[in-house]
Amino acid sequence: MTIRESTGQDELALLSLHEAAFGSSEGAGIGRLVTALLHDDTARPLLSLVAERQGRLVGHAIFSAVSIEGYPGASVRILAPLAVAPGQQRRGTGGALIAEGFARLAAAGVDCVLVLGDPRYYARAGFRADHAITAPHPLGHPEAWMASELAFGVLERLAGRARCAASLEAPEYW
Ligand SMILES: CC(C)(COP(=O)(O)OP(=O)(O)OC[C@H]1O[C@@H](n2cnc3c(N)ncnc32)[C@H](O)[C@@H]1OP(=O)(O)O)[C@@H](O)C(=O)NCCC(=O)NCCS
Repeated sequence: MTIRESTGQDELALLSLHEAAFGSSEGAGIGRLVTALLHDDTARPLLSLVAERQGRLVGHAIFSAVSIEGYPGASVRILAPLAVAPGQQRRGTGGALIAEGFARLAAAGVDCVLVLGDPRYYARAGFRADHAITAPHPLGHPEAWMASELAFGVLERLAGRARCAASLEAPEYW
């Protein structure tokens, strides 16, 4: 498996991948989010990573920009969405995309990464819910709002409301 940054030529294949992973109704909405994020200036800096096996896209992750109110110097990203093709799951692809993203972001000086997702999955990658960053919208499952620090101790200092890219702030994604 190889992991690389996505290009404009991957976009159609990415929509199919998300539709397959999330199911046709949720997947269509996630596909719209992917297209929007890839063309959203407010999402930058943005890291879009694809996992490839034998020339086929099998996984995709987007890390997009977040600002924290009151902490203009903080460098924060959010992981959304993450998907692995159904026939390719449980082979470490999701974990490898997260690890590669973290390595690249840490090298770029990013302080922490946020995610809204299943704690049973994301806790394995170092995400935790005991932080003081507030989500952009009220959450039905606050335990699913997690952060992983890339710079040691940063979650002890960061607090306040997160503001995501315009396309990701739409209430339907929260
Ligand atoms: C969640 C997802 C990205 C995981 O990708 P993956 O490549 O299968 O993950 P990995 O191989 O790195 O890790 C697999 C492990 O995570 C576990 N896992 C996967 N999803 C899980 C979940 N929702 N809750 C708990 N554990 C989960 C698997 O059981 C497996 O553990 P095991 O090997 O000990 O049984 C993939 O299942 C997927 O695309 N799902 C549909 C879309 C989605 O829900 N995306 C995440 C929200 S944005």
